[in-house]
Amino acid sequence: MQQNKIIDFIQPDAQDWEKLERISEIDMQGFGEDGISTFNLSQFARGGSVFCLTLNGLIIAEAVVLRNFRDNGAEIFGFAVAKEYFNQGYGTRLLQHLKEVAKEAGIEYFELTMNPDRPVLHRLYIQKAGFYKKAELTQHPHKHEPRWLLRYDL
Ligand SMILES: CC(C)(COP(=O)(O)OP(=O)(O)OC[C@H]1O[C@@H](n2cnc3c(N)ncnc32)[C@H](O)[C@@H]1OP(=O)(O)O)[C@@H](O)C(=O)NCCC(=O)NCCS
Repeated sequence: MQQNKIIDFIQPDAQDWEKLERISEIDMQGFGEDGISTFNLSQFARGGSVFCLTLNGLIIAEAVVLRNFRDNGAEIFGFAVAKEYFNQGYGTRLLQHLKEVAKEAGIEYFELTMNPDRPVLHRLYIQKAGFYKKAELTQHPHKHEPRWLLRYDL
């Protein structure tokens, strides 16, 4: 029997260690040494910065969004989908959700950094979500990958 796909968006509580462990696992899988620990996620969750997409109740994508002090922009700091769910549109859906939530919260733009050597990121952020290249940054200090700063005006 085919199971219905129920997609939802949640924000974990700062003390919900089970969910935070799962989010950290996805983040570490996506970013290696730059991944966010469970404990640090808890601090971000306290301020309402952690966003998740769930599929039939399981967290399969996560993002950390940090509001700026100096203006009304925000940085998408972590953004990852669990690898067994890649290329099924979940990254696109979470990004769309972040746009809606941020607009409602009065955030005026998003910025994020990406490695321009990864075609999937061109597709996801630039072609599909409408981000544009704002600047070329210096290389990642450890991974020695090139880095672009992208922006999306809400
Ligand atoms: C980047 C990431 C979030 C994308 O999530 P996702 O759920 O797979 O993304 P989506 O399925 O919504 O969209 C991906 C798009 O890229 C396309 N794509 C995938 N691999 C591609 C490739 N090698 N070349 C070109 N396009 C590619 C997909 O076909 C899809 O486009 P489509 O909808 O037109 O078919 C996911 O790969 C990930 O978590 N990676 C590790 C962490 C990471 O790199 N995060 C981003 C940091 S800036």
